[in-house]
Amino acid sequence: MVSRPSFDEARARAVRLSEHTSLGVGGKPELFFEPQSLEEAALVVAACRAAGVPLRHLGGGYNLLVGDAPLAGAVLATHAMKGLVVDDDRVEAAAGHFFPDLVRRSVELSIPALPGCPGIPGSVGGVVFMNAGGRFGSVADALLEVTGLDPEGEPFRRAVRPRDFGYRSSPFAGCLVTGAVFRRDRGLDPKVERALLEEAQAWKRRTQPLAARSAGCIFKNPDGPSGPRSAGRLIDEAGLKGLQVGGAQVSALHANFIVNAGGATSADVEALIARVRESVLARHGLLLELEVCRWS
Ligand code: EPU
Repeated sequence: MVSRPSFDEARARAVRLSEHTSLGVGGKPELFFEPQSLEEAALVVAACRAAGVPLRHLGGGYNLLVGDAPLAGAVLATHAMKGLVVDDDRVEAAAGHFFPDLVRRSVELSIPALPGCPGIPGSVGGVVFMNAGGRFGSVADALLEVTGLDPEGEPFRRAVRPRDFGYRSSPFAGCLVTGAVFRRDRGLDPKVERALLEEAQAWKRRTQPLAARSAGCIFKNPDGPSGPRSAGRLIDEAGLKGLQVGGAQVSALHANFIVNAGGATSADVEALIARVRESVLARHGLLLELEVCRWS
């Protein structure tokens, strides 16, 4: 039985988004919805549209920088949309499924590309929406279909290919991703895939502050005159590792991570972002753009 969303309940449920984001900063939205299914989510989208309330979608909150002030409008969180269905040639996961769990099981399930994605926190919905990935592979390489609601709240199920996705982007801007279907490839050699998973895991642990509170890489890698440059290296070369504003700090391990070293506010993070951008511009003549989504 799909229940109609109650605005009073959603108002009472609203807590500061610092509790729902990996960076641990962010104010309270007016309304907070936690639908358990695509059908419930569709009712939330319809109710907000009818009432003229702006609605934002929250996955695992791992790639998000939310302002400290109260947030106008509603937030729809996908964390209660759970489910994993394994078939012969495909695995369908709901948006709220924890992506690292799928990566951990990717060798036994013969899902390609995902053994190259350890150390990427997030919900399935979030990583599909962002086409998360790294040097060992991207989520898009493993996808067959994506389900969701379009900006009008209409449900869709769309077949996808890797070329539909870009660098940290998907064709689902404005949509709510509610689930994804991953390919199983029985031709994969589990020994090779296991070795890739272990190599990628070890490399991530060595090079990124996985245990710290962060939003992953904060800036996009900019294009330099001779191709893309690593924002982390540029920030490092500007001597900014360890730079701190309030509770926000440039990671000493990978300079493109800003970590919450304790008690950081969004204003601290923003001030640190501004300092880093200024220094990198002065030192390298390159303007860094944010990679994380910003809500304010
Ligand atoms: N480097 C430094 N200092 C640093 C960080 C990096 O000198 O503080 C050097 C490294 O030693 C290496 C080069 O810069 O020689 C590139 O570094 P890395 O391999 O870490 O790659 P990246 O370009 O900095 C990108 C993604 C990461 C992803 C890694 C690995 C972006 C913005 N970043 O980083 O993604 O994990 O490649 O594939 O695309 C994320 O999306 O949240 C993220 C962290």
